[in-house]
Amino acid sequence: MPENANHPFSFDIVQDGRTILSQYDNHIVRKLSDMQGQFFDQLAYDAILAEEDKVIYEVYEVKRPEVSGELLHGLSIVHPGTVGSEHFMTKGHFHEVLETAEIYYCLHGEGYMVMETPDGDCAVEPLKAQSVLYVPPCWAHRSVNTSPTDDLVTFFIYPAHAGHDYGSIEEHGFRKVVVADKDTPIVMDNPVWQSKDAR
Ligand code: F6R
Ligand code: ZN
Repeated sequence: MPENANHPFSFDIVQDGRTILSQYDNHIVRKLSDMQGQFFDQLAYDAILAEEDKVIYEVYEVKRPEVSGELLHGLSIVHPGTVGSEHFMTKGHFHEVLETAEIYYCLHGEGYMVMETPDGDCAVEPLKAQSVLYVPPCWAHRSVNTSPTDDLVTFFIYPAHAGHDYGSIEEHGFRKVVVADKDTPIVMDNPVWQSKDAR
């Protein structure tokens, strides 16, 4: 955050030919071991983790005061890969202040945003370079990279007082998952969602 938090500032998204913020305050690295219970194929998860704790995604955050009126923003990079047939993805979350929205601008790659509401409405929207995705208030969201080779890079913006609620997704998962079927990604019901819920 700039020294004078209320002064305008600008930054670049490409640096040295790499898609990365020229200015950021936080770099979060999420590895496979941080995603325990999130991929539906637990055997495949355990097998990969036994070999290597791969980096699944990274987030570069620009810090702002976490108050209403401010906007938090940054870059999310989901690396390519699968656990079993399920594509690499973010953990996903509701916003703690449920009635807050978010905008994602896709800069590179291809994938999907998997979304659902507390009432069980589901939506899965494509993410592709130069497309914008609007996540309305009350929708949990998770980005999924379906490219076999390329990073999925998105720039996100959301109200700074939103906060994050990871708990219910960690407990139940999303109702929909995105899997690789030969060369085509397909969306299907999460095979372990029901059983987790019933526990
Ligand atoms: C913020 C937001 C994104 C995600 C990022 C990583 O509200 O939606 O910045 O935080 O894509 O995903 P999570 O937070 O689910 O690990
Ligand atoms: Zn969010």
